[in-house]
Amino acid sequence: MTYVNSSMITGLSHVSIVVPDLAAAIAKLQQTYGLAAGEIKVNEEQGVRMTYIDLGNAKIELMEPSRPDSPIAKFLERNPKGGIHHFCLGVENVEQTTKDLRAAGAQVLGAGNVQLNVHGERIAFVHPRDFLGALIELEEYKSEDRGG
Ligand code: CO
Repeated sequence: MTYVNSSMITGLSHVSIVVPDLAAAIAKLQQTYGLAAGEIKVNEEQGVRMTYIDLGNAKIELMEPSRPDSPIAKFLERNPKGGIHHFCLGVENVEQTTKDLRAAGAQVLGAGNVQLNVHGERIAFVHPRDFLGALIELEEYKSEDRGG
C-alpha cells in the first residue's frame, strides 16, 4: 500500500452547494443567517453561475447551472432542491498532488489537464470513491489570495 504525504493538503477552501435558484439561495442565507455573498461569476467551461460566501477560514460556494447541458444540471435532476455537491481542499501544487494521488491509485477526473476556477486558480477533481464517497476538488491558491 502506498501512502501519500498528507502535508499536500493545506486546509479547507470551501464547501459547494448546488442550488436551483442562485438569487433565492443568496437571499435565504442573507435573511436567515446574515451571510453576505460576493460577486456572481460565470464559469463557462464548467457551465456554472456561482458566488462565494466568505466565512473567514473557509467559504461556501453556491452554484446553479448556467446552461441546460451543464454538468450540475444532472445533479439537480437527481436533487431538485439542491444539496452539497463537493468540498474543496487547498493544496500547494495541483499538478504534483494529482500526480501523487494517481500514483497512490486514486482517480483524478478529467484527462489530467489542470482546470482553472473563476479566480484563475488551478483546480482538479478526485472521484468520490477515492474520498469516502465525497467528490473532492483540489485548489491551488494564488499567492495574492492567501488569507483573503
Ligand atoms: Co468548488
